[in-house]
Amino acid sequence: MNELLEKIQEIRIVPVIALDNVNSAAPLAEALCEGGIPCAEVTFRTDAAEEAIHIMASQYPQMLVGAGTVLTTEQACRAVGAGAKFIVSPGLDLDVVKYCLEKNIPFFPGCATPTEIIKAKKAGISVIKFFPAELYGGIRALKTFAEVFPDIKIMPTGGINLDNMAEYLKCSNVCACGGSFIVNKELLNKHDFNAIKELAKEAKKCTVC
Ligand code: 3PG
Repeated sequence: MNELLEKIQEIRIVPVIALDNVNSAAPLAEALCEGGIPCAEVTFRTDAAEEAIHIMASQYPQMLVGAGTVLTTEQACRAVGAGAKFIVSPGLDLDVVKYCLEKNIPFFPGCATPTEIIKAKKAGISVIKFFPAELYGGIRALKTFAEVFPDIKIMPTGGINLDNMAEYLKCSNVCACGGSFIVNKELLNKHDFNAIKELAKEAKKCTVC
């Protein structure tokens, strides 16, 4: 976990991706790498997820490829089999936690309340996805979590964009921000990987501002 966390903390942004077409996986991975964000959370919201993870992870070994929207142990297992290096979920499922701890695969479960964070901590989790961040108090909630749970690192996701990301990244407990604002559906549908690369570059600049 520590090595992966260090890498995520360096990259600072985890693009959330919903791919309909596996043919987009390689050019998308290339655009993200060239844009300076060699990371992807490929969500199991589409049937293409498993194959897309496999393509990205095998053809772009420099990239940190994980699986998102993982709701079941079965999906987690498929994601790991495809080469996912980390697993993200919108919520906290203790079976998935157990599976990931046993397999030694970093898992960021979604938590939005102190009670959920306590449950995650008790189950052995040290990094959570704060989701949906903007709806559940955003930066003010994160600051409160930092006081109450100083040992928990957080990846806020949900409502983060180029305008508010820099503020989120200033929070001491934030390891990285997640979001779909870089790989947006419209650009993906148009196969405009160049625009995605430029958005990635722009977002990367925000991580140091
Ligand atoms: C996710 O699954 O992490 C969210 O859908 C991403 O939220 P966003 O679309 O508001 O970035």
